[in-house]
Formats: sequence, C-alpha cells, structure tokens
Amino acid sequence: MKATSVAPSNLAFIKYWGRKDEALRLPTNGSISMNLSNLLTTTTVQFSAELAQDAVAINGQDFVPDAIEAARVSRHLDRLRELAGLRQSARVVSENNFPSSTGLSSSASSFAALTVAAAAAAGLELPEKELSILARQGSGSACRSIPDGFVEWLDGDTSDTSFAVSLYPPQHWPIADVVAIVSREKKLVSSSKGQLAAASSPFFAVRLGHMADKLKLARAFIQQRDFTRFGELIEAEAVEMHAIMLTSTPSLMYWLPGSVKIMRLARQWRGEGLEVYFSVNTGQDVHLICRPEDVEALTARLRAVPDVTDILINTPAPGARLVEEHLF
Ligand code: PMV
Repeated sequence: MKATSVAPSNLAFIKYWGRKDEALRLPTNGSISMNLSNLLTTTTVQFSAELAQDAVAINGQDFVPDAIEAARVSRHLDRLRELAGLRQSARVVSENNFPSSTGLSSSASSFAALTVAAAAAAGLELPEKELSILARQGSGSACRSIPDGFVEWLDGDTSDTSFAVSLYPPQHWPIADVVAIVSREKKLVSSSKGQLAAASSPFFAVRLGHMADKLKLARAFIQQRDFTRFGELIEAEAVEMHAIMLTSTPSLMYWLPGSVKIMRLARQWRGEGLEVYFSVNTGQDVHLICRPEDVEALTARLRAVPDVTDILINTPAPGARLVEEHLF
C-alpha cells in the first residue's frame, strides 16, 4: 500500500483571504487560480502495520511526531484513515522542488500531493471533487491544486459544497508566471494564521461586497483571453488583499524591500511597453504574469536586478496526479 503523487502549487488571481468556518476551512469568498508547472511537491505515502506512529520527512528533514508539521500531516492522514476504515500508521516522505514559506504556496502543493498519495495508498478511489474537499481541510488553497489548469474554488456553505473545479485545461491560455525570488527568508506568520486576522480589517466588508463581481470579471477575461484587462484586475486584486493584511489587527506585512522594488519595476516596465502584471501572496516572492513571447525579455530584465536571487518560470499545468516513481 504505497503510492506517490506529484502536485503543483497554484497562484490565485482572485484570492482566498478570510474564512467563514475555521474548523472546516470554508473561505469567505470563492477564488480563481492557475496551477504552476514548475512549483511541484512529490509525496510518497505508505501505510504499514509495522509502524507504531506516523513517520514524516519533509525536504530531507525527519520530524518528531508532535512537531507542528508532522502533527498537521497526521491530522490529515486521520481524515483518510477514517474514510478508508484504516488504523495503520504511515510513512510520509515529501519533497518540494522550490523554497517553502517564502510566498510560493507550498502548503497548496503539499496538501494536494499528500491527499492524492494517501488516498491511493489507503486503497480509496475517490472522484476529483472528494479529493478537492479533503485537500481543502488540510490547507484551503490545496483544493485548487487538484483539478487541471485554470481552477475555481466554489466557496460553499458546507464541507460538501466547498471544492474546486477546472474552468479550463492548461492549454486554454499559455500565459506565463515568472516568479522572482527575492529572499529565502521564511515568513513570520503563516497564511493559515494570518487568515484569522482578515475580518478585523475595517476594509474587509468592502472587499467582500465586490468579490462576486471580481470573480465574474476574472472568469470572463480568462475565457476571452483578454490579457490587458485580466492583468489589471489581478494586480489590483493582489494589492487589495495586501491592503486588508496591512490594516488588520495584528497588521501583517509580508513584503520585503526587494518585493516592493519588483512591484514598482513591473509598473515601470509596463509603461515602457513590456506588458507584465504582478501578484504577491503571503511572502516576499513576486509572481509576474506575462505573455509567453515576453518571458525572455522579462527574465533578462529581472536578471539585472540585484535583489532577485532566482527566477522560476511557470506555465498553466495539470492538477495533482499519481506517478510510478516512489521516493522510498
Ligand atoms: O491556503 P492557505 O492557508 O495557505 O492560504 C492561501 C492564501 C493566499 O495564498 C494568500 C491566497 C490564495 O488564495 O492562495
């Protein structure tokens, strides 16, 4: 009973920030994202009667069972054990091919990969919707890494109605997400924790008041492949989410000086004719969205910026899948 899954991280164009139900991880609003081809987590899970407790290794580090990371994995395994009527403990080995805790949503790819691998290792054959519901309970944004390509998470009012669906396959629109890594420094407040403060911002109600319109516009611009209007919408959305973070109690500031530098440069480059729009999550790294024909010019400019330590290029990608090659 061993299975391995590879899952992509995803970038939310219309973002999830705030929950209406903590225990079930139900978001206050729906969100729309794209799976990222080069930000991947690979996870192998094996249930075994010989293990006394779950054994979790992430990125080459073994965790003691009550470490925060291992406990969160075990809680997620419990959901699958319960469904499968299984009592065995599991060995979990997981690897990211990109830095974690810097704003690249490694919890999305990690919990999507864990869900798909653990379900298969437990002998469960679950439809995409069930996998998405399960992944959501591990980490909200993980539910969007299950379906393919461009994805919408339907917020839902119950656990059974809060899951993600594919809007379009990856080939629908070959836009690029060029990620500028500005530091490997780990963020101080996880998104899971930060989300708890969202509703304390005096502007949160304003945000919620227009989320349905934003989602509608995002769907339409993706459908029409209207790059300019799409770019303007998603950049404004990212800034709005950070305005909520900055004005919540406690105030959260995820940007570093290098992040601000890149955001300002994106606007400058746009003025000069290189059409690029930014998005930022909980962390300092900046996602730059451009047309495929502009990737080269954009990376050349980024390479000349001293704050940029690494550049990762992504295109729209399929969701989580099982693979044959195991990590142990
Ligand atoms: O799923 P979480 O708890 O890691 O929160 C994700 C939060 C953002 O990345 C900022 C927004 C999003 O929709 O992905």
